[in-house]
Amino acid sequence: MEDKMFGCTFKIVGNNLSLILRPALDSDVPKMAKDLSDWEVRKYLGFVEGLTENGEREWIKKTAEDKSCITWLIQPEGITEAIGSTGLHRLNDAHSCISGLAIWDKNWWRKGVAYTSHIGRTWFAAKQMEKYTITSFVFSPNIGSWKALEKVGYTRTGIEPVSKVVNGAFVDKYIYTWINPLYTSILFPNGIPEEYAPSIKKAKETLELGDAYIKYI
Ligand SMILES: CC(C)(COP(=O)(O)OP(=O)(O)OC[C@H]1O[C@@H](n2cnc3c(N)ncnc32)[C@H](O)[C@@H]1OP(=O)(O)O)[C@@H](O)C(=O)NCCC(=O)NCCS
Repeated sequence: MEDKMFGCTFKIVGNNLSLILRPALDSDVPKMAKDLSDWEVRKYLGFVEGLTENGEREWIKKTAEDKSCITWLIQPEGITEAIGSTGLHRLNDAHSCISGLAIWDKNWWRKGVAYTSHIGRTWFAAKQMEKYTITSFVFSPNIGSWKALEKVGYTRTGIEPVSKVVNGAFVDKYIYTWINPLYTSILFPNGIPEEYAPSIKKAKETLELGDAYIKYI
């Protein structure tokens, strides 16, 4: 992992999708800069600025060198460009990390891309990187985002009320946690707390889906 801060390439085939998760290419830059400058895409990512092609080139360079994160671009098979990205951050925290995702091509929203990509990223964090927990942050109106997280076994563990203004209204920030079912005996020596049991069950099913869906290519 020391020299690969973009993730190695793999494919996830399931949910009527075939997604390739791979490092960024120079040819991704124009679409990234254009699509990620769209306010509808940007508004729940926590930034207000638009992006330039030079800025995105710089982002690729910095991401490739950043040993505290691992990032993949998401490309549906048969399409020539990436439509989004997903990643794990703060990998220096021994047993935990932070996750994030953006599908910047709006033509691909509501087709299961976030859910299916989460299966791949979560499986990788749990099975290849031995992470015990993963944390994600979501602004409250971003229903598609928290639904996709809940589908793979994240559970809402906190809230930062009225944390940001979006389109003139204060919105909350939700904190979501994914607990690795492979380590519950270490994490909960006295038994899994009742409130986490349903999400840990879903997390276990997610790892099984990952085993079936993921292929290194
Ligand atoms: C939010 C986002 C990640 C959702 O991705 P997606 O690929 O469209 O999500 P999925 O298709 O996997 O959908 C997951 C679930 O959310 C639902 N959903 C998706 N978008 C929704 C929306 N706008 N409103 C209500 N539900 C929505 C889907 O119907 C699905 O639920 P179901 O399985 O019960 O049908 C995507 O729109 C996006 O990247 N937006 C811009 C950047 C961003 O906000 N990133 C997340 C930051 S935390």
